Amino acid sequence: MHPLEELRDTALAEIAAATDDQAIEAARVRYLGRAGSISAWANQMKSLSKEEKPLVGKLLNEARTTVTAAIEENAQRLRLAKEAQDLATIDISLPGTVVEQGALHPLTQMLDRAIGIFRRMGFALAEGPDVESEWHCFDALNTPADHPARNEQDTFYLADGRVLRTHTSTVQIRTMESAPPPIRVIAPGAAYRRDEVDATHSAQFHQIEGLYVDRDVSVADLKGTLEFFLRELFGPDSQVRFRPHYFPFTEPSFEIDVKSKALRSGEKWIEVCGCGMVHPVVFEKVNQARKDAAYDPEKWSGFAFGLGMDRLAMILFGIPDLRMFAQNDLRFLRQFA
Ligand code: DAH
Repeated sequence: MHPLEELRDTALAEIAAATDDQAIEAARVRYLGRAGSISAWANQMKSLSKEEKPLVGKLLNEARTTVTAAIEENAQRLRLAKEAQDLATIDISLPGTVVEQGALHPLTQMLDRAIGIFRRMGFALAEGPDVESEWHCFDALNTPADHPARNEQDTFYLADGRVLRTHTSTVQIRTMESAPPPIRVIAPGAAYRRDEVDATHSAQFHQIEGLYVDRDVSVADLKGTLEFFLRELFGPDSQVRFRPHYFPFTEPSFEIDVKSKALRSGEKWIEVCGCGMVHPVVFEKVNQARKDAAYDPEKWSGFAFGLGMDRLAMILFGIPDLRMFAQNDLRFLRQFA
């Protein structure tokens, strides 16, 4: 037997006996590696005689091919054996871990619906901070120093004189301070008042503010927009009523009531929204803050509104008590999942 053939058989025996990856890798390096013993024969080829060369060349090729194939085969054999062993330790009949699936809070669902309707009418989203300056909350909104909302009994004041915003109307001012007209935004968010907590009052509640400023905006635009919104939300059969009201930052001002057979409240008018035409003084205050005349009340007009989100959700879902929104009782929340 040619020594190369002997070498090949030794290598094959060693590979067949290997019981792990390391042993196979060691064999590969020993025989086929750069300094391996089969490779050494290849390096010697140059020094062989003409007669020897073809035979050694042939044997060398054959040794390389068989040893390489044996290495692959055995590595595969080991892999399969290990896999089978791993699988044997897994009990596929064990019950799995249940993944708890969450759902959106009813207030969030209400908000998504409302935002969706306003977006279809071209309103963009705006926002402002919950902790506000008195300027944004009151002064710029034409709310005088003796207005009850400015009283410490009604509003949460911070030591530095800032307030927890009593309404989202602050975002009207912030939006106009940062951009010239035309404006068409809604601003959903929380508002805070020192209310006695009961079934219909909470120290924190939610509103959607709206502001639309353009040339020749009239009460007809205001009515059309809000009637459309409320019918989309409560169904085409619902009735919408505008009542004259007073807000410092709008003139004229209205409150809107809704009545619908579809609602659990039945045939009763329910107040859902305050609104009106932006007061010229509000435009002047904004100009003052902007240090320009971008909101010239002779050129621009607008309407604004504030919708009570918690109230809307209560009506829409037939929820009797506002406090349920914050109690995190799963029996309540699951009904909206
Ligand atoms: N900010 C008022 C409130 O919280 C609601 C409101 C009334 C908002 C009239 C408006 C508006 O934008 O024009 O009671």
